[in-house]
Amino acid sequence: MKKIKILLICLFISACAAKDDYPGVEYAPNMYHSVPYEPLSQVKDKEIGSWLDSNPEDNHGEFYNSNPYNNYEMTMREPVPGTVKRGNYLPYRIPKDSIDLASKLKSPLEDSEEVLKQGKVFYTRYCIHCHGEKGMGDGLVGVVYKGVTAYNSRAVKDKTEGDIFHTITHGKGRMWAHGSQISIEDRWKIVKYVQTLQKQ
Ligand code: HEC
Repeated sequence: MKKIKILLICLFISACAAKDDYPGVEYAPNMYHSVPYEPLSQVKDKEIGSWLDSNPEDNHGEFYNSNPYNNYEMTMREPVPGTVKRGNYLPYRIPKDSIDLASKLKSPLEDSEEVLKQGKVFYTRYCIHCHGEKGMGDGLVGVVYKGVTAYNSRAVKDKTEGDIFHTITHGKGRMWAHGSQISIEDRWKIVKYVQTLQKQ
């Protein structure tokens, strides 16, 4: 009896064992292999798939995560032709405390009348009430809020475009951040306009 038990245990263990690419029997495979298709993966379990093709008796269906119904068995489809990307700029990831790094950034926008014109519109919308029409810190709110530095002051007149972009995005000292309100492109347009005020 004892011998039979040992034999049975040995048989059981060898039947579960992994061989070649086969990982062996997995307990509760749904914990390892997603039942629904993973939306952002284009995994095709090719190796294990072909192993299972030649060992169909071991194919319990739990290893195959690619979608047989889409082109190339992708779990995600290509966007429709002509799909327009939302915004042409990558998210700005330089953290608030790294202004030295930010100050080396160059504006992605060309100097042009059009950019300056639009920059002025956004400046009027988001900055003028503190910084004033000519950037002297004398806007209606600035007069009360106090401590709004003039752009042509010694402290600010040589600030680089990257530095100003960073200040708009994260704020600085008593100035609040504007990154959540103004798109990256529009921030760069404001920077172009602020640079004309630094040089007056
Ligand atoms: C609520 C008032 C307020 C608004 C709105 C505001 N600022 Fe400021 N800004 C300040 C204050 C106050 C300072 C001085 C910050 C400090 O040094 O404490 C400042 C400083 C600055 C500086 C100089 C930063 C430096 O390096 O010393 C720049 C550049 C600037 N602001 C640009 C802008 C732009 C561009 C906008 C519009 C997108 C804007 N600000 C909107 C209040 C404001």
